[in-house]
Amino acid sequence: MSQLDSEQDVAGVIGRPLDRVDGPLKVTGRARYATERRDGGARPAVGWIVEAAIGHGRIARIDAGRAERAPGVLLVLTHENAAEQTPYGLPEDAGRFTQSRAVLQGNEIRHFGQAVALVVAETLEQARAAAALVEVDYDAESGRYEASPEDEGEIPDSLDGGGQPDLGKGDFDAVLRSAEVSLDQRYTTADQIASAMEPHATEASWRDGKLTLHMSLQILASGKQAIAQTLGIEPERVRILSPFIGGGFGSKLGVHADGVLAALAARELDRPVKVVQHRRNLFFSGPHRGHSSQRIRLGADAEGRLLAIGHDSLQPMARRYQFAEPVASATRASYACDALLTRHRVVPVDRPPIDSMRAPGEAIGTPTFEAAIDEMAEQLGLDPLEFRLRNAPQREPGGGRPFSSRDLERCLKEGAERFGWHERPVRPRSRNDGRWLIGYGMASAVRPNLLMEASARARLGGNGQVVCELDMTDLGTGSYTVLTQIAAETLGVEPQRVTVELGDSDLPQTSGSGGSFGAGTSGSALYRACLALKEELARIACEHADSPLNGCVPDALELAGGRLSGRRADGTAAEAGLDAIAALGGPDGVSAEGSIEAGQDHEDFAQYSYGAQFVELGVDPASGEIRLRRCLGVFSAGRILNAKTARSQLMGGMIYGIGGALFEEAMMDSRRGAFMNRDLAEYHLPVNRDVPDLEVVMLEEPDYRSNPLGSRGIGELGICGIGGAIANAVHNASGVRVRDFPITLDKVLKGLETRV
Ligand code: MOS
Repeated sequence: MSQLDSEQDVAGVIGRPLDRVDGPLKVTGRARYATERRDGGARPAVGWIVEAAIGHGRIARIDAGRAERAPGVLLVLTHENAAEQTPYGLPEDAGRFTQSRAVLQGNEIRHFGQAVALVVAETLEQARAAAALVEVDYDAESGRYEASPEDEGEIPDSLDGGGQPDLGKGDFDAVLRSAEVSLDQRYTTADQIASAMEPHATEASWRDGKLTLHMSLQILASGKQAIAQTLGIEPERVRILSPFIGGGFGSKLGVHADGVLAALAARELDRPVKVVQHRRNLFFSGPHRGHSSQRIRLGADAEGRLLAIGHDSLQPMARRYQFAEPVASATRASYACDALLTRHRVVPVDRPPIDSMRAPGEAIGTPTFEAAIDEMAEQLGLDPLEFRLRNAPQREPGGGRPFSSRDLERCLKEGAERFGWHERPVRPRSRNDGRWLIGYGMASAVRPNLLMEASARARLGGNGQVVCELDMTDLGTGSYTVLTQIAAETLGVEPQRVTVELGDSDLPQTSGSGGSFGAGTSGSALYRACLALKEELARIACEHADSPLNGCVPDALELAGGRLSGRRADGTAAEAGLDAIAALGGPDGVSAEGSIEAGQDHEDFAQYSYGAQFVELGVDPASGEIRLRRCLGVFSAGRILNAKTARSQLMGGMIYGIGGALFEEAMMDSRRGAFMNRDLAEYHLPVNRDVPDLEVVMLEEPDYRSNPLGSRGIGELGICGIGGAIANAVHNASGVRVRDFPITLDKVLKGLETRV
């Protein structure tokens, strides 16, 4: 199963590069995703979503007659016949992941691509063909689809992650005015789509008034609430299963139209119904990341000490969907200053939900901020590395709390050393390799570290097998594997004897996968469940009349190699297998639960994960084409739980950051509120050819203020900063500073032409 053979000691299983325990299931096709056929049960009918063709307005007339008469069609749901649901977005204060996600209610069109009908048929082809026969007439109204940099915007209620929209200290304007060197620049980032490999998809079935949803979803507990809220039924009547997920990138934190539509149709037909959003649906029926306009102001003294740091962000916000990205979150923690000003504003627009997409905030706030830092270093005539090191804060610049740990500077130094930063071309456009202009760039990566609530159950059976149960999910990140390692090490058994059951809302509740908190949060709950289980086993071992260890002191027992050993009061040694003790507990063995929530250490200490990103690239002066040559990321995220999955997360993050820096851009037709490049041919992502030598280094340092395991969030860390390193390297190579992401060749070319 893995490189870990049973001879090895299980102490130290946590951290090892254990292969994915779910790998064999996945490569043999036995891992069943949301809408893959399961053995037994009625064959599901198939739903196809009919999308609104306008961005804002009303349905004047809808006629499903021809579609209903088409071959194989079982049902066409529209707002005229769909069951009544709790109005969309209610209750207002419930938070976006538990509010009603009602569909097909009334004739209002909130956004382009909104579901106006669901055609359900025996086969996908029949549903799709019939969907083309649904006639819809609209009364279009003019909508507002984009935020413009000139907008003032509104102050959002809060920021994703819980931060304050406005945070600062000192008299920013006065300090900035007094600075000897200053900068005031605007940067923009583009609309982005998560578009995970597996689309949003649900198979719904009803039985005795209970709804079962096989759904691709990151957080089951809130999803269950949202479905119950939408349909007006008790949450106890909803069960969501999501054991395997083909990626989500945040777009599956909450439930979407596929889930509610499938549930409605299945109830109507009294038969399972599946609804899979196709690739083009995802651009509207799943959430996306809104574009941003950012103003960054910096002031420093002549020695390169930062005095003032200002970061203003403006983004669109979907009407009736409260969400604001914490664009300046890393800015609040990166460098020391006397005065800080960070503000977030939103402009309500007629768009589908704008929501968390990987590294919400930092993915678009660190490329811009780290580019501004580079521009400032250049103005000061300082090495950008030295400029960053010189401004390391002793305490959190925004909040004033001490850091739980502050490894950014260690990452920067280690990275510079490994990358050969001292060999960089100091002057922009001063190095060539053939026709290519060569440049180096670097940036810091900073991302808040979170701990959420979770509970877990661990059970040891009389057969010696450990079963761990929690409603955690595995997006493909490695949850199954990391949790296996935590249970194995804590219980002193081999990983082969541990089974982890995830993705079922009937299991003990966690906060699921999101915000890079998944492994640490669920892992800590499971760790505590395993500790509780050990205590319970020790108690049974010492107290049970049939136990070979009867009469021993529980605290003095030792656990090794799956065996408990101790001494009785008379000094004689005794031992027994864990399985034998578990068998004494009853036919199901012994089980225990554990839980975790953020405590005082998350109040008292500013907690972040850190990294340093280094990039070498070439720019073709004739075409503006950018080719990455080398990327190095050096990261510090506390204790590493699995060296392989952690590295994969960081690597994936860096590639994601490359996408944001150079490729990703959903283009909107601003007259109609419609994204135009609605597929992965036109919406560009980095592919293998775009990703060069990519090296990941992890500096390990357990941080027990973060959680009992000593780990910190890692999932989104690799994304942070790399866009800044790329922008800085483009400038170093070509002398062109592009402040509008993604940095596409047309923008570079324009800069090159202006320079000449
Ligand atoms: Mo993440 S955007 O919290 O899945």
